Amino acid sequence: MYAIRQSEFGAPEQLAYELVPDPAPGPRQALIEVRAAGVHLVDTVLRSGDTRGSVSPPRLPMTPGREVAGVVTGLGDEVDERWLGRRVVVHLGAGAGGGYAELAVADTAALHEIPEGAGYEAAVAMVGTGRMAMGILHHARLVPADVVLVNAAAGGIGNLLVQAAIRAGATVAGAAGGERKVERIRRSGAVAAVDYIAADWPHAVRAALGDRAVSVVFDGVGGAVGRAAFDLLGAGGRVVSFGWSAGEPLRFTSAELFERQLTAVVALGASITGIPDGLRGLEERALAELAAGRLLPAVQTFSLWDAAAAHTALEQRTATGKVVLVP
Ligand SMILES: NC(=O)c1ccc[n+]([C@@H]2O[C@H](COP(=O)([O-])OP(=O)(O)OC[C@H]3O[C@@H](n4cnc5c(N)ncnc54)[C@H](OP(=O)(O)O)[C@@H]3O)[C@@H](O)[C@H]2O)c1
Repeated sequence: MYAIRQSEFGAPEQLAYELVPDPAPGPRQALIEVRAAGVHLVDTVLRSGDTRGSVSPPRLPMTPGREVAGVVTGLGDEVDERWLGRRVVVHLGAGAGGGYAELAVADTAALHEIPEGAGYEAAVAMVGTGRMAMGILHHARLVPADVVLVNAAAGGIGNLLVQAAIRAGATVAGAAGGERKVERIRRSGAVAAVDYIAADWPHAVRAALGDRAVSVVFDGVGGAVGRAAFDLLGAGGRVVSFGWSAGEPLRFTSAELFERQLTAVVALGASITGIPDGLRGLEERALAELAAGRLLPAVQTFSLWDAAAAHTALEQRTATGKVVLVP
């Protein structure tokens, strides 16, 4: 099969499209012919060998990728034959690899059947990015009276949060970098769409919302953008912080939470895995939202051989929606 292999840390060009031996499923495992593989911003960090963050560099050589959707074409021992030919989607595990490939192996216990009518690309978006969005929403407990500000609102998680908040009946403002992304947010139905590359963007949010204060901030950007969003929260507001794509976490003090009666949740690690029913439950919820047509992930696809371009798009902030590789 063909797969993306990486032998050295460095630039996207380290991602080489190579012929490698087919993987073989072990006991209680299935072989999947991959139709869509998920790509993450964190994959670019792992590729670069950056050791400053919370993720450790992987052992090389390796095939990146931890989410795949496809068709079961082979079975290991102790697997029910009824899996053969089924359309499945699976998260291979946080520390796993092997997704950027034509074939992947996964434990059958981790598989989900793709809902009827749903495509491989949407399914792979929901099993990782969708499950994270479900975890964030669990902590936010949105109500129709909420006024929600979503940062990186044209990104993978951001796009789903905008949709979910609108569905919850909330008033939604989305912020992102650049006019092309702002236009996408506008089209998704947010009442306000703002470009946070402009210095006066908090003013634009206030102007769009009139006398309604922001009650919930969803922030996966951190740094100055996250902080400006935090400053827009009215008294009693909630902030859910789940990442720092800008390179620095959102910073605030407990004194600020007291003075402004704010609630802050860091929706990462144990605060996501500890949600009742765990990650599997969040994956099921995300796929159920897709099946019901309540959440439809925006997806940007690249050919598997062009994985380097997918990484470049994420690093240069030109990607929108969930980035997916198609063999
Ligand atoms: N997807 C998951 O399963 C998951 C799990 C845990 C945590 N997270 C975190 O949640 C956040 C959103 O994740 P996502 O997967 O949905 O990613 P994403 O939003 O599709 O991509 C990250 C976005 O961050 C913004 N950004 C701002 N500064 C950036 C920079 N210096 N370099 C790159 N991007 C920058 C970009 O949007 P603009 O150009 O509009 O600013 C970019 O589109 C990230 O911080 C991620 O680490 C994700």
